[in-house]
Amino acid sequence: MNVYDSSRIADMLKQNGYIETIKQEEADIVLFNTCHIREKAAEKLFSDLGRAHLIQLERAEQGKTTIIGVAGCVVQAEDEQIVKRSPFVDFGPLMYHTIPAILQRIKQNRKQNAEIHTDFPADSKFDYLPENKAQGACSYLAIQEGCNNFCTYCVVPYTRGVEYSRPIADVLTEARRLVDTGTLEINLLGQNVNSYHGEDENGKERDLAYLLHRIAEIDGLKRIRYTTSYPADMTDDLIACHKDIDILMPYLHLPIQSGSDKILKAMNRRHNSSDYLNIIEKLYKANPNIGMSSDFIVGFPGETDADFQQTLDVVNKVQYIQAFSFKYSRRPGTPAAVMENQIEEKVKKERLEILQTLLFSYQDKFNQSCIGKTMPVLLEQKGRHKGQLIGRTPYMQNLHVETKSDNINKIINVAVTAATTNSLSGKEA
Ligand code: 5AD
Ligand code: SF4
Repeated sequence: MNVYDSSRIADMLKQNGYIETIKQEEADIVLFNTCHIREKAAEKLFSDLGRAHLIQLERAEQGKTTIIGVAGCVVQAEDEQIVKRSPFVDFGPLMYHTIPAILQRIKQNRKQNAEIHTDFPADSKFDYLPENKAQGACSYLAIQEGCNNFCTYCVVPYTRGVEYSRPIADVLTEARRLVDTGTLEINLLGQNVNSYHGEDENGKERDLAYLLHRIAEIDGLKRIRYTTSYPADMTDDLIACHKDIDILMPYLHLPIQSGSDKILKAMNRRHNSSDYLNIIEKLYKANPNIGMSSDFIVGFPGETDADFQQTLDVVNKVQYIQAFSFKYSRRPGTPAAVMENQIEEKVKKERLEILQTLLFSYQDKFNQSCIGKTMPVLLEQKGRHKGQLIGRTPYMQNLHVETKSDNINKIINVAVTAATTNSLSGKEA
């Protein structure tokens, strides 16, 4: 989601006459787009701001002004901290469509204090953004924002607000434009994407399954994905899409977080481990070739060795082809932050290592099983070696292949010849 937001911010600044630079020393504006989901992500901002401040001072000596801005969820959650710890920051809107107007105000009247905007506006930010053009052969398309689930560890419902779904017509217009400007693959985004409930052209609420069918009708679109899904919102209609829509990729990110029912309850998740495994069984029935991915949190308050073992048991059952795993991070203002039985850092670290070793073993097993198969690969970028391009398989694996450079942004068939835990390589088939 943040990659999508950052690209939309860049579009907006370009529309206002700015050009991108990769050197901070050259930048008239340095804008940090931030994540607050775990403490590490938030802390990174303050060290980055420190470095940016030094560059701002150096540039000031050369008579150049530098606007430093912060966007995203850290601003929402820590506005006072930002003002206190980094008084040189110029603005910090969560709702980044306001950035051009703020820049204008800053330029007209350079001010001494930070201008922080943390309100949730009544209007959708999507109504104010410039038209989204293809970000390449693969593009993100945000269809839903916010979350009403209130998992007890998570800041998202507080930083991103309640759920909002964009109307079907807006999503379709944007999807068609992305395809017209070169996109072959669209990844529909939302913090809780499968609870999507946008209004259709007649004012009727429609779900993600309906939207997927409509998007699949777009001429020229070759691949669809959606992320991230909440298990309790995996309806039978949505599961059936994995059978009925051939351009829906056979890969699903469906976070379970923990394999222990006691911990899932304490997390306020609306599923237990057997509900989750039943959903996966239905998905496999709909499409036997589907590959699963998940998020896991280890060391949630009260997690015993036995609870942790149940997480490992789920991993052994599902055999994820990819996964993301994190140590529980205490987020101020969330219910879990004040729960008793917080787990020691040392234990969290040990459990994370054990879990990741197991997850990687299955990822590696899956990648090895691809050797000898021919896969359609969407080539997205140049590789490090001459004549090499890098693309993605239907399963989101990175694949390296030697092929002519004008195959970039195309889908070609590749015979997989080698695999590591993190990537594949092959020959044009
Ligand atoms: N600590 C650790 N991981 C977290 N996540 C969300 N909040 C926390 C937290 N407080 C993880 C969840 C979620 C992913 C995006 O980040 O696994 O699915
Ligand atoms: Fe956070 Fe996801 Fe839970 Fe929503 S469903 S509260 S975004 S972890």
